[in-house]
Amino acid sequence: MITLDSIRRPVERELEAFDAFVERNIRAEGELLSEMLRYALSSRGKGIRPIVVMLSAALHSPEGRVVALERSCLAAMLVEMIHVASLIHDDVIDEADTRRGKPSVNARWQSHRAVLLGDYILAKNLGVGMASGEFDLVSHVCAAMATLCEGEALQSDCAGRRGATRGEYFDIINKKTASLIAVSASAGAMAAGAPAEAVERMRRYGEALGTAFQIQDDILDYTRSARTGKPANNDLREGKVTLPLLPLLEEADAARRDELLDRLARCADDERSVDYLQQAVERGGGLAAAAATMGEYVARARAQLAPYPPSPVRAALDALCSYVAERDR
Ligand code: IPE
Ligand code: IPE
Ligand code: MG
Ligand code: MG
Repeated sequence: MITLDSIRRPVERELEAFDAFVERNIRAEGELLSEMLRYALSSRGKGIRPIVVMLSAALHSPEGRVVALERSCLAAMLVEMIHVASLIHDDVIDEADTRRGKPSVNARWQSHRAVLLGDYILAKNLGVGMASGEFDLVSHVCAAMATLCEGEALQSDCAGRRGATRGEYFDIINKKTASLIAVSASAGAMAAGAPAEAVERMRRYGEALGTAFQIQDDILDYTRSARTGKPANNDLREGKVTLPLLPLLEEADAARRDELLDRLARCADDERSVDYLQQAVERGGGLAAAAATMGEYVARARAQLAPYPPSPVRAALDALCSYVAERDR
């Protein structure tokens, strides 16, 4: 099993510089915001977006050591703060009370304050970006913020609607998740001064990796032994049709399809319906089918690394593809 620690190794120093950069630049005024911000930034997640930024920057720097460290730290901060803020808002939207194994910000301080904290982080983030004068990076990364919101809006529009399709599913995950991971990879290359075609190649790497990442997230939602620090089967309770459920709906006749969708509609407050669909997906091969599709995206991400000569940094970007597909948290 590939560990995230081994993937971080080639850019360990750069990631430490990134932590210090965030510490220095993202600060709050006043007791309430300070306390909430400390809480949100101390319960760290996997941090795969900053890892992608730094590895991509290192891949385009001589000898695998990031040359433009300040610019790379800025790029990593821009993407990770967008991520952190979007999760704080996402937990309000999804009424989720657990994040990273701890009470979500909305569970601890109520939704109205969680909305405020998310906005505050985004505002601080943009402020640091503008003050840096690195407008190419700031506009490149911040474009993903709008895309992410479009994905969340599309998902909200589709949840509970009976006609959800495979096309819509991929549109949603491309916008809400793959876009920010794509931008992490392209911004890293950009920070290192890579040429436009390399920036675009890394965007494709991140987009495929991010799609695989979200598919695995949707598989883990059905996996009771997962260690995500998030409640299991929440997607069903939210009425979301994700990839594991899609083949069952696609292969069902009209009556069976109605039955499955009726069950899904009841999941919000009926645990028996949750169990029923969980088992139907497991027995119907929905998880295996989703894993096979994920494998195609992993291969697509990997293929983008072909033009680069072997190096520890390239190997780490390659290992990240396996990690995303194997992870249980
Ligand atoms: C969670 O992202 C939300 C998704 C896009 C699936 P991560 O799994 O990267 O979250 P953390 O940062 O590790 O908690
Ligand atoms: C991920 O959405 C959040 C964003 C990409 C903004 P989900 O609602 O599917 O993710 P989790 O399960 O809460 O992490
Ligand atoms: Mg959520
Ligand atoms: Mg959500």
